[in-house]
Amino acid sequence: MTQEAAQTGVGPMALVAIEQRLAPHLRIVDDDLAAALLPAPARLLIALMGSRTAARMAVMAERKYPGLWGGMLCRKRYIDEKLLEALPQVEAFVNLGAGFDTRAYRLLHDSGVHAWELDQAVNIAAKRKRLAKRFGAIPSFATLVAVDFEHLALDAVLAAQGYTRNRRTFFVWEGVTQYLDEATVRATLEMLARAAPGSRLAFTYVRRDFLEGNVPQGQEALYRRFVSPQAIWRFGLDPEAVRAFLAAYGWRVIEQPEPDELARRYIVSTSRPLTCMPIERTVCAERV
Ligand SMILES: C[S@@+](CC[C@H](N)C(=O)[O-])C[C@H]1O[C@@H](n2cnc3c(N)ncnc32)[C@H](O)[C@@H]1O
Repeated sequence: MTQEAAQTGVGPMALVAIEQRLAPHLRIVDDDLAAALLPAPARLLIALMGSRTAARMAVMAERKYPGLWGGMLCRKRYIDEKLLEALPQVEAFVNLGAGFDTRAYRLLHDSGVHAWELDQAVNIAAKRKRLAKRFGAIPSFATLVAVDFEHLALDAVLAAQGYTRNRRTFFVWEGVTQYLDEATVRATLEMLARAAPGSRLAFTYVRRDFLEGNVPQGQEALYRRFVSPQAIWRFGLDPEAVRAFLAAYGWRVIEQPEPDELARRYIVSTSRPLTCMPIERTVCAERV
């Protein structure tokens, strides 16, 4: 299971890298590091791609998995914006299941904020290699940590890597909760319950009703790919239950934008034929 989950690390950032082949006014996300941090062969394939192929790939993906392409890009853009807004008050950054995400290296380099990026060993090793290639060494403000959330106590792992929980921290947990079992999600939230007041959390989840077989029209292929028969996605939440679920761990929901709202914010101005998937939600919360 974790091996399949590890392989998904490349997906979201490959889309972001493909996006950079388009003219700037058509992009949902601007990210000049996306391609550089991807492992081969994704990086090499994308380097050969022209703008028409890039645009066509998004349209083909929208036909097969409506909203997946647009949804992943919208959540990237939204979390970038939330991090930038919070940055003046933030003293640490922790990305749980960071994959090949670049925001630590794009947004934090002059901020004085240290970043901890956690993921499975195979992805951490590949990312370290690419960072060293791009910057000559792992940037001094970043610590990359190999973990398996299902088998390690996060508090101890982070403490061993120099993280102290009295720092107001921006946590990102993007595209990860669906790959975990409920016990691991709750264990992670127990660690988050000990975060400093004023800390922020941007996280995504898949709707529980979708995992239970209530599949909206158009989402059937996504269901077959990730839910049944394979059960790659395992954990989900009901949007109405998120407030109480987080409150039990001391977190207050600041915002949980509807997928259509994210599309209005980030897709409409591009005039591209993309939507934002209805079955995944993004939440911004604060430790009270
Ligand atoms: C869909 S990717 C998302 C990556 C990144 N957050 C993004 O949105 O670009 C899911 C990530 O979660 C990580 N992950 C899933 N289960 C994990 C586990 N048990 N321990 C550590 N990392 C895990 C995977 O290795 C993968 O990089």
